Amino acid sequence: MKLSPQAITTIEMWRLGFVATVGTDGRPNVSPKGTFVVLDPETIAFGEIRSPQTITNLTANPETEINFVDQFTRKGVRVRGQAQMVPRGTAEFDGLIPHWQAGWGALADRVNIIVRIPVDQARPLVTPPYDDGATEEDMIAAWKQKCAGFYPGA
Ligand SMILES: Cc1cc2nc3c(=O)[nH]c(=O)nc-3n(C[C@H](O)[C@H](O)[C@H](O)COP(=O)(O)O)c2cc1C
Repeated sequence: MKLSPQAITTIEMWRLGFVATVGTDGRPNVSPKGTFVVLDPETIAFGEIRSPQTITNLTANPETEINFVDQFTRKGVRVRGQAQMVPRGTAEFDGLIPHWQAGWGALADRVNIIVRIPVDQARPLVTPPYDDGATEEDMIAAWKQKCAGFYPGA
């Protein structure tokens, strides 16, 4: 299925998704990946650099859910799909890696596997203050103000 334009904007603005997988022991595993690319409106992918448990889990069970959240609007998207591994050394990898070279420069040299996820399901995420009438402008202003105080002196 297709991602909405808003979902694509969030993914491409932040690039950071929290990837949930399940181990063969049934235990959940969630870890952040900051190298997400929207390959097309129906396909997202991240670069595997050092994510051993995520890869072990996806190899046994490719089902994944990834959450993306815009830290200012406090809206996002939860994406589900079945991950496909595209390992370095394949023609397919060579065709895709320019996305990471363009976005991350030398870090792209450390990508071992491109993990591609065709989107099965994409559901919006919205923080509860919107239920009470908050607007995006309210949320952005409030979080800009909070963030401005996070690193005094930096
Ligand atoms: C903000 C952030 C972004 C990250 N992006 C990536 C990434 O794109 N690819 C990757 O392999 N690891 C990335 N990492 C590192 C992994 O999340 C980290 O090595 C984690 O322990 C891997 O756990 P796992 O084996 O359960 O996936 C990132 C970590 C942080 C904090």
